Parts: sequence; C-alpha cells; structure tokens
Amino acid sequence: MYVQSLANKPPAFYAALLVVTLIPLYLGSYQYRLRYHYGGADSSKGARPVSTDFVGDWLNVHVVQPFNPSPIATYCNSTDWHPNLVFNLENANGGIGNIRGNFIDFLFFAIEAGASIILPGMASRSPTDISNVWADRAPFDMMFDEEWFLWAMGEACPQMAVYKPEKGQKMADALPGNYLPRSRRLDVGPEYSKKMYLEHLDEWLKAKAGFNPDELTLVNIERSLWEIDTRSLPLGLRRNFGQVLRINPTVRRLAALAVETLASRVYTHIDPRDAVPRRAFYGAHLRTEADARNAGWLNEPNTNFSAQTDAYIKQALKHKLKVMYVASGNATDLALFKAKAAAHAPPLIVTSKLDLLPPDALEELKQLTWDQQALVDYEVLQRCSVFGGFVKSSFSYNIAITRNQWLEDEGRVTRPWFVTHEEVGVAFDDGISRVLGRDGWHEARIPRGMWP
Ligand SMILES: *[C@@H]1O[C@H](CO)[C@@H](O)[C@H](O)[C@H]1NC(C)=O
Ligand SMILES: *[C@@H]1O[C@H](CO)[C@@H](O)[C@H](O)[C@H]1NC(C)=O
Ligand SMILES: *[C@@H]1O[C@H](CO)[C@@H](O)[C@H](O)[C@H]1NC(C)=O
Repeated sequence: MYVQSLANKPPAFYAALLVVTLIPLYLGSYQYRLRYHYGGADSSKGARPVSTDFVGDWLNVHVVQPFNPSPIATYCNSTDWHPNLVFNLENANGGIGNIRGNFIDFLFFAIEAGASIILPGMASRSPTDISNVWADRAPFDMMFDEEWFLWAMGEACPQMAVYKPEKGQKMADALPGNYLPRSRRLDVGPEYSKKMYLEHLDEWLKAKAGFNPDELTLVNIERSLWEIDTRSLPLGLRRNFGQVLRINPTVRRLAALAVETLASRVYTHIDPRDAVPRRAFYGAHLRTEADARNAGWLNEPNTNFSAQTDAYIKQALKHKLKVMYVASGNATDLALFKAKAAAHAPPLIVTSKLDLLPPDALEELKQLTWDQQALVDYEVLQRCSVFGGFVKSSFSYNIAITRNQWLEDEGRVTRPWFVTHEEVGVAFDDGISRVLGRDGWHEARIPRGMWP
C-alpha cells in the first residue's frame, strides 16, 4: 500500500517531501505579498459592491487619511502659550504649492512660539498677467476648507486661538516691521533649534519700542517656505500637520465630477473609494504656461514642451496606462499635447478638466480664478494611478510628496531620490510619482522641508 511504502523511506526522504510541500506555499505567499501589500486590504476589493454615489464616495477620501490630531496635540502641549501674542501672516503668495507651504510653516512657527493667529489670507494673482502674483488680497477659503481647518486646529491645538477679523476691523496695531522667523532647518545645523528660534523672537520683540508682554501684541510674520526640517520632528507630526489644510469643498466637488466623467465616459474601472486607484489613469502636470516661460524655466535641458510631453507619454506606457489626465493652465499647449498623444503609436487619450466637466460645472469653473482652477487639477492628480510632474513646480512636488506619504502609510518604503543616480533629468521617482528635470534649490529644500 501507498501508506506503507511511505513509512519505509529513510529520514532524508521525509525532509525532501517536507521541502517540496512547502515550496509552493512559500512561492504562493510571496506572490500574494507582492500583489497585496501589508494589511492585505486590497484582497477584499473583489467582493466590494459597486459605488452608487461616485461623487460622494470620491469626496470622502483623502490621500492621507485618517487625520490623527494627537501628535500635533502632544506638540502643542510642549509649548508655553502666550495668550497676548498674535501672529499675522503678512504676505503668503503664489499658487497652491507655495501658499500651502507658507501657511504650514507659519502655523508651525506660531505653535512653537505659543502664539495665536489671525486666519491667514494670501495675495492673489492678476487675472490679466499671471506672472503678477501680488495684484490683490484673497481670504483663506479662496483655496482651503475653512470649516475643516477650524475644526482640525481645535482638535489638535485648542490652546491656539484663531481670529478672523471682519473686513476693515482691526485687532490692534501691529508692531512695526515684519518678523522673519529664524530657520528651523535642523538638518542645516544644530543652531536652528527651537530654543534658538524662541530666543531670536524674544530679542526681536524686546527691541520694539511699543512692546509690552502684558498687552495684546500683534506681529506681522514674513512668509517662509520649507524652513522647517520636517524629518527632525516626530513622524506622526510630520504626517498629520499638513492635513489641517484641505482644498475648498466647492472646488473639490468639481474635481470629483471630472473624475466621474473620466470613469464613466473614458475609462470604466475607477473605484471612488480608492485614494490611489490601480491601473486606472495617468496624471500629468504640463508646466509650460506663460509664467514658466517668462521665468526662463523652459530653456533648461529636458524642460520644454516636447521634453515634458515625451517623458509623460513614455512613463504612462511603461505603466500600461493609455488614458491621461493632463493639467495645464495653457489651453493651446493642452491641445498640442492631445494631438501629439493621439498621433503616437500606440495612441493615448489625453483629457483635461475642460473636456470632462459637465456644462454647468464648466460654467462654474470659468467663474473661478486661475489659481482656483488649478486646484481642480491638484485634487484630480493627487488621486491618479501614476503621476508625472515638473521639478520647478511646487504644485507638482506637493502632489508627489503627499502621495509618497500614502505609500508610506501602505507600508511601502521607497527611496524616491535614488533615481537621480540612475537616470538623467529626473529628480524624484517612488514608483507612483515621478518628478522630471533637475533643480538644485528645490532638491535641497523640498525633501526635508515640504510637509506631506
Ligand atoms: C495636553 O494637555 C492636557 C492638559 O494638561 C491634557 O488633558 C491632554 O491629555 C494633553 N494632550 C496630549 C495629546 O498630550
Ligand atoms: C501658451 O503656450 C503658448 C506656446 O505654445 C504661448 O505662446 C502662450 O503665451 C501660452 N499662454 C499662456 C496663457 O500660458
Ligand atoms: C527641447 O528640449 C530638448 C531636450 O533638452 C532639446 O533637444 C530640443 O532641441 C528642445 N526643443 C526646442 C524647440 O527648443
């Protein structure tokens, strides 16, 4: 009998049998892990019922989620609070990438100083000359979700009051001059500690004639960008702090509508409950607008229209993606890219918010400012399968860095900057986002200074 004959084998046979039985099990679990990363969350997707409220489901998802206020709360608890000290961010400016950076730096400096704040606003761009970013003033909610911000800061840092003066209403006279906070780039040197920053602030305040710590003191803060070594801070603080800023929900809704059309009309397999859907569509930021041209960015190697579009097509095909959502503030270049992609072998479909939004939503979009329109792209691109952006754009880089936090949350640790040793003209690649071109200043500042 079979059983008997087995029983008579030498011990080495049993060892071999054990190995032969275990190998398929080992290989199987290895493949499983490759496909479904830690937590195995993906494995249940086959069983998930189809979403019946695409827009609602899409809006409920944020790339870095859930928001956890507790690491911020712990940090706020470590501060000495001064109820009489109020910071006002004097001159945030630019597009979403820079304004977001200005705001988060400002909030961080306020927390370390134990100061309350005036809800920050920003300079807004001239509608006729997009290179002029100083034309007017705009309130917080031109870009961000005010209700969410107030709630999140209330949870995370209840010691900080957030004032919102009515138009024309004045809290107090600000001390003369703007205070530029001393850098907190600990990676640059040990002298950029919290202690040194607070001493610097103290000296600045004491040198002002009208300063009295017992009275309400309003300090105008000069904007800074990526002046904090985020990686010297507790991991949870770095992960969650930037999440207090979410995009204005009215504008976000337009992004959801665009993705809904993309799913229904162009491509059918996007689950709105996925933060980053797999194998759905490529997202590209074509940064060739007039202001980029005026700044001379497009004359450097690998940066002009043809270099950017070639690289995006190549990367999309590498990931087997034939549908591209392209963000650009320049309709002419968008049309050129569309024609170029269609003529490519194999052809790719290039779409944009202008193609995808239903007529009434398109009308709504046209009422928005240039920078608000870009927020629609910002939201869609954060949620593409694979992203391609441009190194001189803080807009592009913000998308890549936030998506990289998502990867980290998924348990996938990557070395996005290693690509600079392997390829020419690429600054960042973590497998789901790639940043084209090289730029010494951005590459020195952003890896540690930008908040996800
Ligand atoms: C912060 O301090 C308050 C009061 O001392 C305490 O109730 C709270 O639990 C602390 N929160 C954190 C996150 O440490
Ligand atoms: C769009 O790009 C074209 C070149 O393709 C350029 O001539 C034009 O000034 C750009 N317009 C804007 C608004 O960026
Ligand atoms: C665009 O950039 C590429 C690569 O840097 C260069 O070879 C090409 O000549 C440039 N084209 C134009 C029109 O400037």
